[in-house]
Amino acid sequence: MKKYFTHKPIVYISAAILFCFPLSKSVAQDKTETAKMNAFVNGLMKKMTVDEKIGQLNLVTGGMAITGSVTNNGIGDGVKKGSIGGIFGLYGTESVRKMQEAAVKGSRLHIPLIFGLDVIHGHRTIFPIPLGMSATWDLGIIEHAAHIAAKEATAEGLNWVFSPMVDIARDARWGRISEGSGEDPYLGGKVAAAMVRGYQGTSLKNADAVMACVKHFALYGAAEAGREYNTVDMSKVAMYNYYLPPYKAALDAGAGSFMSSFNVVDGVPATTNKWLLTDLLRKQWGFKGFVVSDYTSLNETVDHGMGNLQTVSALALKAGLDMDMVGEGFLKTLKTSLQQGKVTQADIDLACRRVLEAKYKLGLFDNPYKSLDPQKEKSEIMTDANRKSARVTAEHSFVLLKNANQILPLKKSGGSIALVGPLADNKRDMLGTWVIGGEWEKSVSVIEGIKHIVGDNVKINYAKGSNITDDTAFMKRLNFGPGMVSLDKQSPADMIEDAVKAAKKSDIIVAVVGESQSMSGESSSRSDISIPESQQLMLKALAKLGKPIVIVLFNGRPLTLTWENDNAAAILDVWAPGTEAGNAIAEVLFGNYNPSGKLTTTFPRSVGQIPLYYNHLNTGRPYSSGPTKFKSNYLDISNDPLYPFGYGLSYSSFSYSNLKLSKTKLKGNETLTATVTVTNNGPYTGEEVVQLYIGDPAASISRPVKELKDFKKVNLQIGEKMDVTFNITPKQLKFYNSELKYDWEPGEFIIQVGTNSADTKTARVQWVK
Ligand code: BGC
Repeated sequence: MKKYFTHKPIVYISAAILFCFPLSKSVAQDKTETAKMNAFVNGLMKKMTVDEKIGQLNLVTGGMAITGSVTNNGIGDGVKKGSIGGIFGLYGTESVRKMQEAAVKGSRLHIPLIFGLDVIHGHRTIFPIPLGMSATWDLGIIEHAAHIAAKEATAEGLNWVFSPMVDIARDARWGRISEGSGEDPYLGGKVAAAMVRGYQGTSLKNADAVMACVKHFALYGAAEAGREYNTVDMSKVAMYNYYLPPYKAALDAGAGSFMSSFNVVDGVPATTNKWLLTDLLRKQWGFKGFVVSDYTSLNETVDHGMGNLQTVSALALKAGLDMDMVGEGFLKTLKTSLQQGKVTQADIDLACRRVLEAKYKLGLFDNPYKSLDPQKEKSEIMTDANRKSARVTAEHSFVLLKNANQILPLKKSGGSIALVGPLADNKRDMLGTWVIGGEWEKSVSVIEGIKHIVGDNVKINYAKGSNITDDTAFMKRLNFGPGMVSLDKQSPADMIEDAVKAAKKSDIIVAVVGESQSMSGESSSRSDISIPESQQLMLKALAKLGKPIVIVLFNGRPLTLTWENDNAAAILDVWAPGTEAGNAIAEVLFGNYNPSGKLTTTFPRSVGQIPLYYNHLNTGRPYSSGPTKFKSNYLDISNDPLYPFGYGLSYSSFSYSNLKLSKTKLKGNETLTATVTVTNNGPYTGEEVVQLYIGDPAASISRPVKELKDFKKVNLQIGEKMDVTFNITPKQLKFYNSELKYDWEPGEFIIQVGTNSADTKTARVQWVK
């Protein structure tokens, strides 16, 4: 088996070094720069009419990215009139230049526009969906992916991206769990900061920097029942401890803008929520940038019950919203509200100032055409280097969920493989959700990737085997864009028959199954999160043959996989890997890269267990084992997930031993070191994410059974032993108590180090103040 690795040995190099990415610096400007900016903006604002100021608060769509029923017409005229501050959903140097010229040459005060887009996991070269990207646990790789996205986006005239999406999600029914980093606030914060650094680089003035927009502020991922746009209701303690940290981490990394979310926060829609947008974001956290609404989220506060469009627009402005995306509530009502005394000139000025400051920070007043270079548009996009990074990132994002009898990696020569499933010879679904600039025609299918690696050395017997789904009503919902999911000409029974025939001729079955592109993402909530029935029927027919089945699983969310876990020999979770999907999958299947991804979201056994997350409270009647009445459990299923947070196998195997603490009694600001020995006992070199969790069993509020506090990704040669050390300080023990005071409380702490959240070595310490 080792021979698979002789072709291309795995050498672990931190991705930051691999890609030679420069260290980021904070965007906080020094005093002189701020003074210069203030003088400039003051001067400009003196010349502006009220209409022109309100115009800066108006963001319109250029039509390439529409997620609501409202769109904007007559953009060119609006730009010349000065009634538009920015455009999103329009890119390409020619189109952007045309609009920028209309603003700079055609409008009275020559104020440049800001150009935004949903660049979520890559712009043209598509990287894995964010949930997959987070499964790398490799911040260097993530930062670099964001940097490439910024380079490609700026090469097409963009200067603002609606990313990172940092909403914590504990509910796999919610389709947008795919766009974030899973359930953990600590990891979520680290990923958020890495993405901001990657987008914004060392200075927003750089030609290849884009301003990040942190979304969706706030708590959008906690929609009740996982139903899109639904109510959110949670305690402040939960908010501060589990949901808010990633937004704050993105802010601390220097993010220039925030997007308000669709949901209510403490009963008030985020977009009109003064506590959220002003008291918390600006006063408590010190945010200096601007806040844009989500797509018509301002108008939607009418349906939330906040009043008519004029009322909600005034409320939103006063709450701290600076820019209105698409809805034109500000444009149509603020002047009247000013005349009627419902908003003040100072309210309008403040929002206008923040938008102008963003443009200033981006250097758009110095050079409105700064990234409009048609040459770059050709040379920077989808380069070999970008594609290579996308492939490497995808390889690192895959999570090996099962590998019985070391069935993987597969042999590169000899024998035969039945390659089946609706996602095996498929380009469109490789990219995943939110890929405005991605061209699926340019993605690599799994069959192509496999052929690149094995050529004719392995016989590949291909059969599609099933439709994505046979359910035509479901299919209709998935087809919000043309031709996203279709029915094959063959009947489902004939397709299964073909797959069985291919399998009969083969030694092993590789089934490429799961969710298609539009099954996750915005407005893609599901009440049943299993693999669609059409594909399950195929898998069940194949399983009868008794041959080993390797499942290559596409998914934008955790799926319920109990049957698959019981019946497949191996499961490799590849999320939606992006442009280089097929190549990355083949590299891993055939052992050129040893999988190292770990789950950032818990996989339930059944949808009935949701919400299911590792950092839960203990309850007063915690369940331990066996069927027990009057404990916190179910009659019909265990409490345990199918795969816990932090879980992921390797082709090698790592053992943990000898957890040593530097002390067991500590005082005040001392540092505790926890060291564990990790040994690679398996036949391959590989990477392992060593995870540190801490539990706080007695405090003034009930605390989670454990919380991730640190992690290290290490590379171990065959047989190598490594001592991995974590330094722990009281900072890591802090939490928000019921008065929302952020501090740590003395007492006992349970230090846990391990390979996933459910498999750790444990030691206890006493820590006094
Ligand atoms: C989504 C945002 C997105 C915006 C603009 C909305 O529907 O919620 O995430 O940035 O559209 O496309």
